[in-house]
Amino acid sequence: MGHERGGESRQEREQERLQENGRPNRREFLAGSVGALAAARINKNFGGVSSLSREGAAIEKAPTAAAPLRVIIDTDPGVDDALAILLALRSPELQVEAITPVAGNVPLDFTLPNALKLVEIAGRTDVPVAGGARHPLVRKLITGERVHGNNGLAGVEFPEPKIKPVAESAPEMIRKIVKANPGEITVVAVGPLTNVALALRDDPELAAKIKAIVIMGGSLSGGNVTPAAEFNLYVDPEAARIVFDAGVPLTMVGLDVTRKVLFTDQRLKALETAKNPSGIAAAKIMAATLEHLNRGPHPMIEAMHDPLTVANLIDPGILTLKDYYVEVETEGEFTAGETIGWAYGPARGSAPMALADKHEGSPVLATEESFKANARVAVEVDAERFFRLLLGRLTA
Ligand code: BDR
Ligand code: CA
Repeated sequence: MGHERGGESRQEREQERLQENGRPNRREFLAGSVGALAAARINKNFGGVSSLSREGAAIEKAPTAAAPLRVIIDTDPGVDDALAILLALRSPELQVEAITPVAGNVPLDFTLPNALKLVEIAGRTDVPVAGGARHPLVRKLITGERVHGNNGLAGVEFPEPKIKPVAESAPEMIRKIVKANPGEITVVAVGPLTNVALALRDDPELAAKIKAIVIMGGSLSGGNVTPAAEFNLYVDPEAARIVFDAGVPLTMVGLDVTRKVLFTDQRLKALETAKNPSGIAAAKIMAATLEHLNRGPHPMIEAMHDPLTVANLIDPGILTLKDYYVEVETEGEFTAGETIGWAYGPARGSAPMALADKHEGSPVLATEESFKANARVAVEVDAERFFRLLLGRLTA
């Protein structure tokens, strides 16, 4: 389960250099050696085997029965990831082209086999699973066992998978599928954004070929790991910045709405009526999760972050989306991974230091005239409609 450390010393030297010379700004990071080095480092660490021009924000069209929405699910299963995957695999409105696990809630040594197990449970071994990044781009991996249990599935043990991951790494798989189907593929990213960032970074032409990226992550109203940052963004803020800056039509489903869809005991009872293998597995995972979260001095209720993100692709009436210009904080000592959303211009950075050579005023990212949204952000949710869909699909 330990991280592979090939190339680490070179990376450490680079990090030391950055600490001495100051951190790279965003443009330097995207273009510079750190990002490339991070990509090289990650490329050695896949578990399997081995800008942008478009403007405006994501518009999810309601898929029709005749034309399912073609999606790649990038994920770190993960309790709520597991339900999101099972929901997608049981929904004819979605055609799941691949599942690409990444390290996040638990290390890749768990997220990858968990994805394989879920595909088997759902009877959908036709869906390829490609192992992704073991580490964030330039940070150490922070995991979430407190919520997801040591194995990522709340400690519930399912049979070891018989199927194997495909030979391609997750970023390779994303690139391959998108390039073979330009304008057709929506990437649904419900874990840290490392795989997606690497796919984009290694092929500058890829962004223009992706139909949309729909992210579970971020928040306009405070985080869940720090007061500023949501988990997926906190784990790999540099990757998130690459993805938010890629110019791909983007939807952000953040804590603003996912905190409003809580999985209660009553909902567990409904799920426990399931007779199909996916619903039975989901009920076991959620029973163990509720049990585990209710223990200890600070009981919590699990929010259905990732299933909500998938559900809105099946029924776009579940969420209300609003245009925002979103920036990802990567340098804040206490705020890395925060998503800052401007609803209108001007969009400004922090005030300059008093000792700056000349007085230039606050850096303006966009004026009132040049202001453009780069994402649609979920601001309201119809929670009952969501749970009807989720529980309906898992128990049917
Ligand atoms: C996100 O982080 C993980 O814990 C969940 O799977 C979800 O993707 C919520 O902050
Ligand atoms: Ca997740």
